[in-house]
Amino acid sequence: MGSMKQKCEMQRIVMLLLLLILLNLIIKPVLQARTNLPSVVPDRIILNLTEETSNSVAVTWRTDNTVDDGFCEIHPLSASRIINDSVKSVKATTSSISYKYKDEPEIRANQHSVIIKNLKPGGKYLYRVGSKAAWSEWFEYELPDNNNQFSFVYFGDPQADLKSQWSRMVRKAHEYTDDCAFMLYGGDIINRGGRDTEWQEWFDAGSFIFATVPQVLTPGNHDYADDGIDPHWKYQFTQPQNGPAGVKGTCFFTDYENLRIVSIDSAVESELEDENGQAMTSQKHWLDSVLTNNDKKWVIVTTHLPFYSTNIKRDNPHIRRNFQPILEKHGVDLVLTGHDHAYGRGVVSDNKDIKPAIVYVVSVSGPKLYEAGDKSWMQKRGGYLQLFQKITINGDVLDFKAVTADGEVFDHFILKKEKRGNKLIEQKTD
Ligand SMILES: [Fe+2]
Repeated sequence: MGSMKQKCEMQRIVMLLLLLILLNLIIKPVLQARTNLPSVVPDRIILNLTEETSNSVAVTWRTDNTVDDGFCEIHPLSASRIINDSVKSVKATTSSISYKYKDEPEIRANQHSVIIKNLKPGGKYLYRVGSKAAWSEWFEYELPDNNNQFSFVYFGDPQADLKSQWSRMVRKAHEYTDDCAFMLYGGDIINRGGRDTEWQEWFDAGSFIFATVPQVLTPGNHDYADDGIDPHWKYQFTQPQNGPAGVKGTCFFTDYENLRIVSIDSAVESELEDENGQAMTSQKHWLDSVLTNNDKKWVIVTTHLPFYSTNIKRDNPHIRRNFQPILEKHGVDLVLTGHDHAYGRGVVSDNKDIKPAIVYVVSVSGPKLYEAGDKSWMQKRGGYLQLFQKITINGDVLDFKAVTADGEVFDHFILKKEKRGNKLIEQKTD
């Protein structure tokens, strides 16, 4: 009788264990997937720079697809509580979208986008986004005030461990850079193009910073999926649409005070390998015209593929051959790139007949890190370092610092524009 009872007890324990294993197999993936589900409450709220930064800014956010419309409410910055009578409301453009990556659960969402226009240069505002279903908190944004004095941050590839290890970079950069005007990226924001869970991590890392500091993004090869650019780029960002057909929103320019920023999409069409292809030729013609019709003192170009690689086994001569003569013709100041997961900085040219004047930088902000090879173009190099760059423009002077994750200056140089059009490059040793 005793052994019969024991046998039943054993069977009960085994059944219970099997049930627990089964529940774990079913429930765990469901719980994991839920971290990136939208709801009626606005999330992934992000500012982007527009074509007219002096009097406008773009905001994009996400809800679930039961929220058919969205609004952005704007209020002048005030010390006292927000009074509804002073609120201006702008209706968003709403797009229903489904994000699907391999066998991960499909995410259906509504993306809402507004360009807030007719703001005052130098004006300080509060804004919130949402609808009658739910509102975000109020965020603060200050427009450029045209005194040609501002700082911004540049990030090379975030790409890996976005929530766990890139988060401290964006937070340190934000803390380090007082009144950060915007944050600029050189591509490979995530690792697997189209994968919503990675975008969730990126937004978790940036949190309120993305809703208060505009983000300016060029894509990398990892931001492309097999069938083209990750759809998140079109729907979760509202970037200037002034680039050539086929690369609008990834190839564009924007002006901020006395600076023109140009994003070239070097990840399109298998990293522009077809030199006679549409994406290469259209971007070359566009770049030449955008730099010809420019009245800004400073020009910075950002693109994913480095003109000069830090990696001993890598080189992108087709990028130099096609774009460098245009950049040199127009006196571009600085080229910010990524892709090689190391740091390199140098003033260099393939044209033996000129004195090189463009500063080329390769950098990385995420924790996927490689060494910097022994290549002669680099005046400063560093491997296995997560870095952000704080760039300050003050009239005729550009101050560039590459800073480590713990806030130490790793590289520092200054560019000075002189009256005769000369440019001095001063290396600092902090
Ligand atoms: Fe890359």
